[in-house]
Amino acid sequence: MFSLPCVSEVAETFYPVTERNVDPEETLLAFLRKNWTLLIKYACGTGGCGACTVMLSKHDLVSKKIRHFSVTACLVPLCSLHGAAVTTVEGVGSIKTRIHPVQERIAKIHGTQCGFCTPGMVMSMYTLLRNHPQPLEEQLMEALGGNLCRCTGYRPILESGRTFCMESVGCQQKGTGKCCLDQRENDSLGGRSDICTELFAKEEFQPLDPTQELIFPPELLRMAENPEKQTLTFHGERVTWISPGILQNLLALKAKHPKAPLILGNTSLGPAMKTQGHFYPILLSPARIPELSMVTKTSDGLTIGAGCSLAQVKDILAESISELPEEKTETYRALLKHLRSLAGQQIQNMASLGGHIISRHCYSDLNPILSVGNTALNLLSEDDMRQIPLDEHFLAGLASSDLKPEEILGSVHIPHSQKWEFVSAFRQAQCHQNALPDVSAGMRVLFKKGTDTIEELSIAYGGVGPATISAHIACQQLLGRRWNELMLDEACRWLLDEVSLSGSAPGGKVEFKRTLLVSFLFKFYLEVLQKLKAQVKLPLVPTDNRSYPEIADRFLSALEDFQVTLPQGLQMYQRVDSHQPPRDAVGRPIMHLSGLKHATGEAIFCDDIPRVDKELFMALVTSTRAHAKIISIDSSEVLELPGVVDVITAEDIQGTNNTEDEKLLALDEVLCVGQVICAVVAETDVQAKRATGKIKITYEDLKPVIFTIEDAVKHNSFLCPEKKLEQGNIEEAFENVDQIVEGEVHVGGQEHFYMETQRVLVIPKTEDKELDIYVSTQDPAHVQKMVSSTLNIPINRITCHVKRVGGGFGGKVGRPAVFAAIAAVGAVKTGHPIRLVLDREDDMLITGGRHPLFGKYKVGFMNNGRIKALDINCYINGGCTLDDSELVIEFLILKLENAYKIRNLRFRGRACMTNLPSNTAFRGFGFPQGTLVTESCITAVAAKCGLPPEMIREKNMYKTVDKTIYKQAFSPETLIRCWNECLDKSSFQSRRMQVEEFNKQNYWKKRGIAIIPMKFSVGFATTSYHQAAALVHIYTDGSVLVTHGGNELGQGIHTKMLQVASHELKIPMSYMHICETSTATVPNTIATAASIGADVNGRAVQNACQILLKRLEPIIKKNPEGTWEDWIKAAFEQRISLSATGYFRGYKAFMDWEKGEGDPFPYYVYGAACSEIEIDCLTGAHKKIRTDIVMDACCSLNPAIDIGQIEGAFVQGMGLYTTEELQYSPEGVLYSRSPEEYKIPGITDVPEQFNVSLLPSSQTPLTIYSSKGLGESGMFLGSSVFFAIADAVAAARRERNLAEDFMVKSPATPERVRMACADRFTDMIPRDDPKTFKPWSIPIA
Ligand SMILES: Cc1cc2nc3c(=O)[nH]c(=O)nc-3n(C[C@H](O)[C@H](O)[C@H](O)COP(=O)(O)OP(=O)(O)OC[C@H]3O[C@@H](n4cnc5c(N)ncnc54)[C@H](O)[C@@H]3O)c2cc1C
Ligand code: FES
Ligand code: FES
Repeated sequence: MFSLPCVSEVAETFYPVTERNVDPEETLLAFLRKNWTLLIKYACGTGGCGACTVMLSKHDLVSKKIRHFSVTACLVPLCSLHGAAVTTVEGVGSIKTRIHPVQERIAKIHGTQCGFCTPGMVMSMYTLLRNHPQPLEEQLMEALGGNLCRCTGYRPILESGRTFCMESVGCQQKGTGKCCLDQRENDSLGGRSDICTELFAKEEFQPLDPTQELIFPPELLRMAENPEKQTLTFHGERVTWISPGILQNLLALKAKHPKAPLILGNTSLGPAMKTQGHFYPILLSPARIPELSMVTKTSDGLTIGAGCSLAQVKDILAESISELPEEKTETYRALLKHLRSLAGQQIQNMASLGGHIISRHCYSDLNPILSVGNTALNLLSEDDMRQIPLDEHFLAGLASSDLKPEEILGSVHIPHSQKWEFVSAFRQAQCHQNALPDVSAGMRVLFKKGTDTIEELSIAYGGVGPATISAHIACQQLLGRRWNELMLDEACRWLLDEVSLSGSAPGGKVEFKRTLLVSFLFKFYLEVLQKLKAQVKLPLVPTDNRSYPEIADRFLSALEDFQVTLPQGLQMYQRVDSHQPPRDAVGRPIMHLSGLKHATGEAIFCDDIPRVDKELFMALVTSTRAHAKIISIDSSEVLELPGVVDVITAEDIQGTNNTEDEKLLALDEVLCVGQVICAVVAETDVQAKRATGKIKITYEDLKPVIFTIEDAVKHNSFLCPEKKLEQGNIEEAFENVDQIVEGEVHVGGQEHFYMETQRVLVIPKTEDKELDIYVSTQDPAHVQKMVSSTLNIPINRITCHVKRVGGGFGGKVGRPAVFAAIAAVGAVKTGHPIRLVLDREDDMLITGGRHPLFGKYKVGFMNNGRIKALDINCYINGGCTLDDSELVIEFLILKLENAYKIRNLRFRGRACMTNLPSNTAFRGFGFPQGTLVTESCITAVAAKCGLPPEMIREKNMYKTVDKTIYKQAFSPETLIRCWNECLDKSSFQSRRMQVEEFNKQNYWKKRGIAIIPMKFSVGFATTSYHQAAALVHIYTDGSVLVTHGGNELGQGIHTKMLQVASHELKIPMSYMHICETSTATVPNTIATAASIGADVNGRAVQNACQILLKRLEPIIKKNPEGTWEDWIKAAFEQRISLSATGYFRGYKAFMDWEKGEGDPFPYYVYGAACSEIEIDCLTGAHKKIRTDIVMDACCSLNPAIDIGQIEGAFVQGMGLYTTEELQYSPEGVLYSRSPEEYKIPGITDVPEQFNVSLLPSSQTPLTIYSSKGLGESGMFLGSSVFFAIADAVAAARRERNLAEDFMVKSPATPERVRMACADRFTDMIPRDDPKTFKPWSIPIA
């Protein structure tokens, strides 16, 4: 039995849940969604995103206290919850009764956009507050470290959390009601009173009252205080769960079922069962055995029960560190350091120490430290108790050093360190927190008392082999040696000899990993040297035998780790005119319409729609070959499986199977791994998914197989003709310049990673072949059309509904139609409603993303930095079908000049056809990749001229009214203003000097700063794509229903539309409602994309409202003192229609590619961003110190939403350029298919200071209320971080006398940064001849 809060009367009481027939394979997430229809979110299923976070409350077996902790419900087996209380977001608060302060603040501080991550965020924060009602900022960062958000950029989420923090309260308690940031704020405003920095009103917030929280259910407390000793057993269809109440029974069970794993946190077993098909018919749960949670402190060390969670281990270590003398806690401090960055809080709460050790993951953060720290494992079996060392033999899984099948790990003994003994830990991952390490290390040295002579040395590494590896031989060789540079040098060579990593090692990054082996050792060497020096104040004279080598101050920076701090920032915008009536919402920072519902979990997403009668579930079968003929599809075995209803193949399609080149279901040939071949329809999702693995497909491989741009060019494999723009005389210009530079730029692709994966529910109706389709899409009309042609029924029979989308970013423009059409075929064939929800792995495998790019440039310039000629040739990897690739390459070429006026230009671009999943639209549509080439040219020119890049940028920027390369006239006035304001607001020049000074003083850490201008064109290059329609009804009670053609993707379009309607109808927004976007109310819509959605739909809503107001005018004139309700009543009585369609015919836009001329874009968004970062040259890690963005939003419709879009896009751009790396096997299989393998930015990646200001006093006559669309533009500004990193790398290379014009590759991952900062360690590592091995992954850009 476990308890859930009773959701009908929120937070009043817990509801006892007694489930007698629990399936051990069922997770809490699945149970809550299916049996309780709770709206807890599924986004990854592997514990890596935090969307499914809930709070567990348990009576601790040892401390006898109630423990509240966050967990990811997707990894919690339902069976493990016996005696626990579960609190979901519904139990925290509800808009129907009372919202909780956490929910109120995250919504009102604009911490929700699409809202899909919000319940998880709320639960992490709520759990923190249950344990610490006034947390430290550091605790807040820890609590949210395991939660991902793809929309907001985290700043507002953290800000909402900060309002509960001790520091924040302290600040307000000064009594002035002002905070310490105020002075800085005033300075930035330059004394302007029309500039505002408040996006929310703090005074509105309800206080947090911890006494109002639910108490732990007394019934469970009674149960916990008198624990039953009997064994509980749950039998499922395939698996039995056995949970003994006493240790002896556990040991007896282990003897009886030696192959059965012990299941604790399930963070290792769970993901392996889900993604690698591991299967165990019996699971033994030791959760009720107190002996496994005991902690014993002895004079020589700590013995920690194997069942203690990593979070508990953290507390235990912290306590011991505070109690013991420093010399005894070396190992504990090293462990604690890694525990701070290992996974997110939820995983730390779930994962056990024993599970971690026994899992022996090759990347383990803790095992290397435990092994060098002489840890011993206390093993228990029915008849025996023994101790084994946690050494290299155990870690390698040698049978002689391992647990016997009947044994379990009871506890772990970690000895104290001693005087003259030093232990350190190192790790490097793709990003700071919640990322598996590429390499982890534990190092320990013991000196002969009072000397620097090595008596014992142990070094162990994770991530460089199939298990944790000990450098035993190297360490032996060094015994007796003095701790000096000579020893270091030899140690490095010994290490590299011993820890060899083959060129094709799994995980790739081979040279980086080899470099880290020795870089970490160097850090250890320095750390120990410092500690030795601190321990004995010995003279530093080199001739003295008992002296230590001196470390110059500038080398000490190698020792400092980047600290995590809570980001701060200012958001500035222009206040609305003081004469604007308060009811007029336009220009005000109104909260997202669904904000509170996001925060309480009451916002309904596609898969939250309750099961409908006779509903079936569909799962897709995809190709495992990159290019092959399908010989046969055998589904006979599958149709026999329980619950399976049908298998849908191309032959079931009544209409057209999409196009010849891009089939919905493959017919006779597959073009990539991940192409959909057929689909299984079954009674449950589990049955459908399991059955997909049983479909037997035979293939015959075909040639050629092309994955890389290089190969595509070689094979002349393109999706469409070349696109080209040219101006001036480029060849002649190259003749007359001082210098010419040529270079290459590689930009990796990007996965959308919308938190809500692709989902659709198709409901066939009984009459006239009608279908209702609920789908998560940016383009319902496209879904409708594709379903119509696939089923061969008219469009008017199909209605698509979009309530809200959990993030799209371009990935839900084209793809949802494919999934909807396949589901529709299934629905029509079976006559049942069909639900199709892609798993994260499948979503990432099938759907493609941003196009990887390879660009070559040749730039001619004068010695003063004036660029005279620029020739850029770009190739994008389009994947196997055309999709949007032609449009992407067109946009890329059109936007390539960015903010620069260069007289002689030639831009060429081609979309390559490869055997990879088709790439598609993605925020910025080619601009973020292409313009990186342009900006890289500028950086290269600066390096050649010996001038700062910002000077070259400014020199070549558009200055006056001019024409673009495609002859569209525009004024760059606000571009220049953004640039100047950004320089000013960021104090660029003085910080540039500080950066230089820092770099002079630090050899191993370097800082970089960069400012990037942006001219971003909004909209589509076709007039008809700008048309929009709206339908506005006024009902007889005066309430207004607004419908328009835009889709709510999190970008707040519905909020903005109601602001428009409220302004036009002159009534408050509270009269208005938007229900959904539907093809039945507004037909023939255009995709919500290209940053133009709010703009064009706003014009349509405005038009509809103006029509209605015009109709009402005579009535209003007649009764000017009447109320809105009076006028509506009168209008109805006078038979005046209270419903109107609004229409906007669209901005004129065209492009003539023959002539290379046109007016393709209605307008431009200008901006500039300055970022400063610091890199660690030894590891390649970076921290973001500060970012300042100035964006020309003109008169923002809603500054909170627009600033949210800028910040969110910026952080997504930062991800593109720094951490998001897609890895493909040489066979074309995408490896990176989960949040663990693909790192989008997390909370610790936000710049420590993050300021955004909207340029004041800017107008555009063209758009609605002079506003601008800001959905995409911020993305490219993320490149300021990339160029700041490049700046820091250049500084390192200058100092090391290396060429500055290194090849630019995005993302600037730690691997690339480390390898670019070449030094004696990179020189030392062995390099493999590429012809001698098959790499683990291939670069496709
Ligand atoms: C999202 C995510 C992020 C992660 N990030 C990191 C990271 O950054 N660094 C890192 O090092 N690790 C990371 N991990 C791995 C994590 O540390 C381990 O999965 C975890 O410690 C395993 O503990 P568990 O209790 O969940 O084990 P379980 O999954 O419950 O069990 C794992 C194995 O241990 C065995 N076992 C457990 N207890 C005993 C016992 N007492 N006696 C005998 N056998 C036992 C079981 O039989 C089973 O085979 C991450 C995991 C996830 C899901
Ligand atoms: S869905 Fe559970 S962590 Fe992602
Ligand atoms: S609001 Fe966080 S994922 Fe969309």
